[in-house]
Amino acid sequence: MLDQGAPPHDRTATAPVSPGLAARLMRRKPVEHLVAEGGQGEGGSLRRSLGLWQLTMISIGATLGTGIFVVLGNAVPKAGPAVTLAFVIAGLTALFSALSYAELAGTIPVSGSSYSYAYATMGELIAWVCGWCLLLEYGVSVAAVAVGWGEYLNELLDGTIGVTIPTALAAPPGDGGIFNLPALIVVILAMVFLLGGAKESARANTIMVCVKIAALILFCAIGFMGFKSGNYSNFMPLGMAGVSGAAGTLFFSYIGFDAASTAGEEAKNAQRDLPRAIMLSLVIVTALYVLVAAVAVGAKPWRSFNGSEAALTEIMKDVTGQSFWGTLLAACAVVAIASVVLTVVYGQTRILFAMSRDGLVPKIFSKVHPKTGAPRANTVIVSVFCGVLAAAIPLGQLADATSIGTLFAFALVNVAVVVLRRTRPQMHRTFRVPLSPVLPVLGFAFCIWMMGSLSAVTWIVFGVWMAVGLVFYFVYGYRRSRLAAGEDLAVAAEK
Ligand code: ALA
Repeated sequence: MLDQGAPPHDRTATAPVSPGLAARLMRRKPVEHLVAEGGQGEGGSLRRSLGLWQLTMISIGATLGTGIFVVLGNAVPKAGPAVTLAFVIAGLTALFSALSYAELAGTIPVSGSSYSYAYATMGELIAWVCGWCLLLEYGVSVAAVAVGWGEYLNELLDGTIGVTIPTALAAPPGDGGIFNLPALIVVILAMVFLLGGAKESARANTIMVCVKIAALILFCAIGFMGFKSGNYSNFMPLGMAGVSGAAGTLFFSYIGFDAASTAGEEAKNAQRDLPRAIMLSLVIVTALYVLVAAVAVGAKPWRSFNGSEAALTEIMKDVTGQSFWGTLLAACAVVAIASVVLTVVYGQTRILFAMSRDGLVPKIFSKVHPKTGAPRANTVIVSVFCGVLAAAIPLGQLADATSIGTLFAFALVNVAVVVLRRTRPQMHRTFRVPLSPVLPVLGFAFCIWMMGSLSAVTWIVFGVWMAVGLVFYFVYGYRRSRLAAGEDLAVAAEK
């Protein structure tokens, strides 16, 4: 339970009307108000149907996919066999932030994830910036992931019926094609599941997650047969700079562990289960990544990784000498990556749901269908947006843009933990980051360091993205914020 009311030393409780611009931008939404609104949308409520198992599967579902099946092939030429170390570094960055997510998800169990945590601790403007970064983490990463799905679909079609979708229809402009049809198709498929409701989507996701874990374990078992320790003789051929560059790129593969935190208003026991789901999923995913990467560079000399997007299937084929195993892995990758699309679209819709309820984006995003408990219009808009983006933009540029936005949002979550500990020290927490503030500060530093390892082009994309976000906020959200209008307080008081 939360502590009752706002204690006298509570510095997050704010008056409904504030005079100046700065005060308005810094206005914080009290934790009690965020929690009191739990589940309520326009015309209906989200349903609490998810237990620990489903929440963990949502986080694994959103995390394990393109990063290991596709991006690994691009990262090995940067780091050599030390790509394993790059996975550990990226995993550590994720771990520090995951601890902070776990604490806040257990304390503020709502759907807005880090957007809501920032609203409660650092004020509306920072919350908006965080939500805008989450659009990169979720909305844009769906597009990147959907493109990876199309690549494995082609691999599968080639291995089974010997036909591939022509490049014109399987790649975006800039990558030699006109339109990436498979990428659009997978997003639309995810939309169909999500329109059925959170419980049904979670069930489909759980099956897909089991398939992908089994596929990676199968890869390790077969790849291990071709393992040559000589492939490790020059462990770090491109030095630490190569490793940190690869870690920045591979951070993409950890994006999504926080997805359970977007299900706060659909979890049966959110305060207990969200922190557990986040930590459990990260541990399972990190173990799998390091194992798969170690086997991959042990089975194939690092110089032969030519940035191929289906590196794992090629290793399966090379080791066994039979195309069957490569095709089987491609089939599993198709399922695996589809579950990332499903869970990440889910997360994006729930974040927009929370932002819409606060008045910062249009109301249509918080309309809930009374029968399914799903935010229908929201799901359709997000899916169409992501599907078209996926069909029209090349993957490489998207993956790094996604990482930089996510890292920034994670950095803010680490700050939020420290702020909430200071402003609400008495609040009941179901999970506490050990050694706070040391670990959150380390989490923050790792995120900033990793952002620094990304290319200048990525920074420019990020800068433009943030500038567009700020314009949108000042034109729309700033004026319509329910907190600024004092409406939010009335709603909370009714409860
Ligand atoms: N982490 C997700 C993936 O690798 C985005 O597909």
